[in-house]
Amino acid sequence: MAAYDIRVFPDPVLRQRAAEITEIDDGVVRLARGMIEAMHEAPGIGLAAVQVGVLRRLFVYDVGDGTGAHVVVNPVLELGDGEAVYDEGCLSIPGLTWAVVRPPQVHLTGVDLDGNDISLEADELVARVVQHEVDHLDGILFIDRLDPDERKAAMAALRDIQVAAATPEVAEPPARRGLRLPGLG
Ligand code: NI
Repeated sequence: MAAYDIRVFPDPVLRQRAAEITEIDDGVVRLARGMIEAMHEAPGIGLAAVQVGVLRRLFVYDVGDGTGAHVVVNPVLELGDGEAVYDEGCLSIPGLTWAVVRPPQVHLTGVDLDGNDISLEADELVARVVQHEVDHLDGILFIDRLDPDERKAAMAALRDIQVAAATPEVAEPPARRGLRLPGLG
């Protein structure tokens, strides 16, 4: 069992902004290792420290491309131009996926656990997951990226999922049917 439980909406910690990490000490290394374990166990392809209740600017991701799990400390994003649509889910909002528009390419900078600088031009799924995770570090959830009408519909669907989950006689919440995608992060 992973060392960390993933916090779920509407846990108020998910709305907090995480603080910069000033020193990569043993605690940060342990945090990253525990988060990688929790991400793989979930399963998801990304996880931000805020999601395990730790308000520090660190996230992990593993998109299953053979390069393994990556740790990014103090990430900064430079967003590219254009728009891409992708059905996002979130380990902190179980059961809900929604089409979210974001730039298709980003430039990610930060440092790794050895203190080495990271500079990555990301596109496709990596661009998507790093934007999702950096949002978490700023207290932003993917439902905040929807336009007002969509956000309303997503919140209603989320309420249905929560009600159904709390109702024992409903074996499976209706809004969950057909959703078998792993959580994005
Ligand atoms: Ni998420």
